[in-house]
Amino acid sequence: MTLLEKANEYQEKYRADKSERPEFHVAPPVGWMNDPNGFSFYKGKIHLFYQYHPYSTEWGPMHWGHCVSEDFVKWEELPVALAPDRPYDAAGCFSGSAIEDGDRHVLVYTGVMDSDEGDGSAIQQQCLAVGDGLRYEKVEENPVVPWERLPPGFSKEDFRDPKMWREGDTYYLVAGNRNERQQGQVALFESDNLREWRYVSVLADNQGKYGTMWECPDFFPMGDKHVLIVSPMNMQADGSEFHNGNQSIALIGEYDRQRHHLREEQVVALDPGTDFYAAQTMQAPDGRRIMIGWMHSWDMDIKPAGQKWNGMMTIPRELELREGTLYQNPVRELEKYRKDPVICDNIEISGACRVPGVKGRVLDVLLEIREGDFEKFSVQFAKDSAHFVQFCYDRAAQEIRYDRTYSGVDRDVVCQRSMRIKKAEKTLKLRLILDKFSAELFVNDGAQAFSTTFFTPLEAEDIEFLCDGTARVHIEKYRIALD
Ligand code: FRU
Repeated sequence: MTLLEKANEYQEKYRADKSERPEFHVAPPVGWMNDPNGFSFYKGKIHLFYQYHPYSTEWGPMHWGHCVSEDFVKWEELPVALAPDRPYDAAGCFSGSAIEDGDRHVLVYTGVMDSDEGDGSAIQQQCLAVGDGLRYEKVEENPVVPWERLPPGFSKEDFRDPKMWREGDTYYLVAGNRNERQQGQVALFESDNLREWRYVSVLADNQGKYGTMWECPDFFPMGDKHVLIVSPMNMQADGSEFHNGNQSIALIGEYDRQRHHLREEQVVALDPGTDFYAAQTMQAPDGRRIMIGWMHSWDMDIKPAGQKWNGMMTIPRELELREGTLYQNPVRELEKYRKDPVICDNIEISGACRVPGVKGRVLDVLLEIREGDFEKFSVQFAKDSAHFVQFCYDRAAQEIRYDRTYSGVDRDVVCQRSMRIKKAEKTLKLRLILDKFSAELFVNDGAQAFSTTFFTPLEAEDIEFLCDGTARVHIEKYRIALD
C-alpha cells in the first residue's frame, strides 16, 4: 500500500463525526491540521488544501489534506492529495499554493528531506504536482526549485512555502527564506514553463524588525498598492500592534517592478487574535481577493482530551484596501446561510442583560453600540453557570479586551489580549461569528479582526450583555445552518 492509500484508508476509518467538528469552518476529518495550502479556483470550484497529519492530533510527517467548495462556506472533503512518499519530500510535503493552468491544477509545495550532513538538519526545495482536482502526480523534474538556485548565503534549511501566480506568459513564485544574518526574507523566482525557475530578487526582508524566519509569503496587487503577507516566527511585542511569537503581518507599499522589490509604506498585524497564522489568499473569478488563515497557534495548542481532530481554518475573508486600511470581512456568501433572525433595534442595556432568542454557538451576530452613559460594555458568550468567553469594550481607552480565562481551558496559555480600536467612531460596530469552538470578531466594518478558539462545553450557549451604565444598542442575530 502506498503512503497516500494508507492515509486515505486511515482518514475514512477514523473520521470524527461531523457533529464533533465546527459547522462551517474547515477542520480535518481526523488528526492534525495546520496551514492552508493551495487555496485556488479550478474548473469552477474553490479548492483548499492544508497541512495534514491524519494519524495523530499532533504535527507529524506532513501530507496535504483536500476539500472543495462552491461558495467558500460549505465544504466537501476529498481524498488526501499528497503524501511524503519521494526521497525529496520524505520528511514532509510542507506548505505551498496552486494555480489553474489550462486544463490542469498545478500545486507547488516544499519538499523536505534530511540532509546527509548527519546533524539533523533538513533541506527544503520547491516541488510540483499536477492534477485534475482529485488526483495529483508529482512531476519527474522535482525538485523544480532546488536549493542550488539560491544565491550564496541564502538558507537551504529555511526555504519554503512557495506562493505562485501567473502574469501574462510568466509564472512567478515567492518563497520564505533566511539570510546570513538569520533574518527573514522573501525570495522571488520566475519561470516560463513551471519546470525551470530562475532566481530574481529579494522581494522584501525583515530589516531586523519583524521576527526571524518569514513563513508563508503571499504577494498580490490591491488597488494601486501591493500587499505582501508573511508569517514571521519569533516576533517581539511592539506597542499594541504586534504580540510576542508567531503572527501574520501585511506589508503594504509600492512594487518597484524594475528592481522587483516592495517599497513598504506600512506594516500591520493582520489579526492579533490568540489564534491566527499562515494566512493565504486567492482571487475569486469576480475579482475579490479572499484570505483564509489557520485559526490556531503554534505556542498554544489547546484542545479537549479525547477530541479526534485538532486545528481549523478561519472563515474565508474578503480583503479590501481603502484609504490605507486593509479591511477584512467574512465572505458575503455566509449571509445565504443565515436563519431565524432576531433583530432588536435601538434597545437599552444596563447592568447584566439577556435578550430573548439571542443564544447559540453557531451564529452571526451584529452588534452596534451606539450611545449612552457608560464606560464598559461586554458581551459574554459560550456561557453557562461555570463558563464564558468575553469581549469587553472600554470606551475611554478605545480598546477591546478579550478574555477566555473561564472557557474551561486547563493549560497556562494566553487567555487575555487587548486590541486598540484604530478607527474610533461614536458608534462601535461589531460582527461576531461563532462556530462552536471559535469566535471571529470584525470591528467597524472589518477595519480590524480578531480570531480565537475555546473549548467550552457545547451546551454552554448563553449570551449575556453587561454594561456599567446605560447603552443604546442594535442587535441582530442569525443562526448559521448549512442545510
Ligand atoms: C507554518 C509552517 C510552514 C511550513 C509548515 C509545516 O505554520 O511552519 O512554514 O511549511 O508550517 O507544516
